Amino acid sequence: MIKASDFGNDFSWGVAVAAAQIEGAAELYGKGPSIWDTFSKRSGKIKKGHLLQVTCDFYHRYQEDIALVKSLGFDVFRFSISWPRVLPLGQGQINQDGIRFYHDVIDACLLNGLVPYVTLYHWDLPEALEVEGGWTAYAVNHAFNEFVSLCAREYGDKVKNWIVLNEPFGFTSLGYMLGVHAPGKTGLTNFFSAVHHTAIAQADGGRILRAEVSGANIGTSFSCSEIIPYTQSEPDLIAAKRVDCLMNRLFIEPALGMGYPGADWEVMEKFSIQHSTWRHTERLTFDFDFIGLQNYFPLTIKYNAFIPVVQAWEVKAKNRKKPHTAMGWEINADSFYNIIKQFAAYPNIKKLMITENGAAYHDKIATTGIHDADRIAYFELYLSALLRAKNEGLNISGYMAWTLMDNFEWAEGFNARFGLVHNDFKTQKRTVKDSGHWFRNFLSS
Ligand code: NOJ
Repeated sequence: MIKASDFGNDFSWGVAVAAAQIEGAAELYGKGPSIWDTFSKRSGKIKKGHLLQVTCDFYHRYQEDIALVKSLGFDVFRFSISWPRVLPLGQGQINQDGIRFYHDVIDACLLNGLVPYVTLYHWDLPEALEVEGGWTAYAVNHAFNEFVSLCAREYGDKVKNWIVLNEPFGFTSLGYMLGVHAPGKTGLTNFFSAVHHTAIAQADGGRILRAEVSGANIGTSFSCSEIIPYTQSEPDLIAAKRVDCLMNRLFIEPALGMGYPGADWEVMEKFSIQHSTWRHTERLTFDFDFIGLQNYFPLTIKYNAFIPVVQAWEVKAKNRKKPHTAMGWEINADSFYNIIKQFAAYPNIKKLMITENGAAYHDKIATTGIHDADRIAYFELYLSALLRAKNEGLNISGYMAWTLMDNFEWAEGFNARFGLVHNDFKTQKRTVKDSGHWFRNFLSS
């Protein structure tokens, strides 16, 4: 049986959440609208038309929720600062109520002996900036730097651990290429310009934190998935490589000073030449103290000539009769191990940290409790794979489970439940699931 102590005493254990997914109070206390507030009101964008007005009402319940994190035995609480809550228009006028709220959240962490990890951007861009082009316009970089600077000045004495961006590939691809997330834009031109401004923000954000927060531990977090070719045929191998360029390499390589991964894919190369500034690798580079990895599933990729640009297609876990979660995501802990190894192979990474991992299931609600044996089995498998990587000498400093409690799962609304704690969205009653109890035992082992 795997034990937390197997990971050593200085390994950090946390849970992660994000502002838009849990806070609620979306239109209260001076907060400006975010792109998710706007997007969720557009018909057909979110399953069952769910909105962000209340979500888990963390804004009013943070004290109890943070005490709950502590009671489950974690020592880290990762949360994000809502940019439009502190700067309602994205820049300029500061909302003092918003500033005070995050002081209160940070103080509650410290009071409970939890180490706060603050994510600066977890997808809730101020709508006022989207009107000006959002991540597709260079203007966003000035505003982002102002936001980072404000947070560093306000909270830097109390918060030393920072994550500049959450899953840059996630929000640029889903939000600016496929249009299934906010702001719902599509097409390659939008995508590649959003990518470039995001890569600038990633490195600029790191530099600002370094200058303004003494003793800061600065990271940024990437989604990652092992890309498995469906067959060993050349078209499948090449298609898998293209997807790897996009999903795993697009943001880490510029951060490490390697530029965009154009050499392996002509489409990327073409775009990188078109944007003259793409070549200016220096501004995209920052010496992060840690790289956050967020993994949920691998992707099995097959060549498909009919898919524009990437000419690749995912062969779903279900169609291959592989075990999967309620999201349809393949459960494959070896792929977690493999993708950690893939990232660890980059030179110049100081530390890795798993900043998200978890699973959605249809939990069984009974009078005896919330029974989620599947989720427990998932964590046992994935943590064993992590331990295997760590025992091979990889410098992995911590693990954060996604997520504390069931919350607003973006386009899925409240239907996909990832929490260690069940939330009743009508009454806001929190009930620790079996997996939460499992974690408590695991962490005390
Ligand atoms: C990645 C995102 O960072 C988080 O917001 C999301 O809820 C989880 N993955 C699960 O999809």
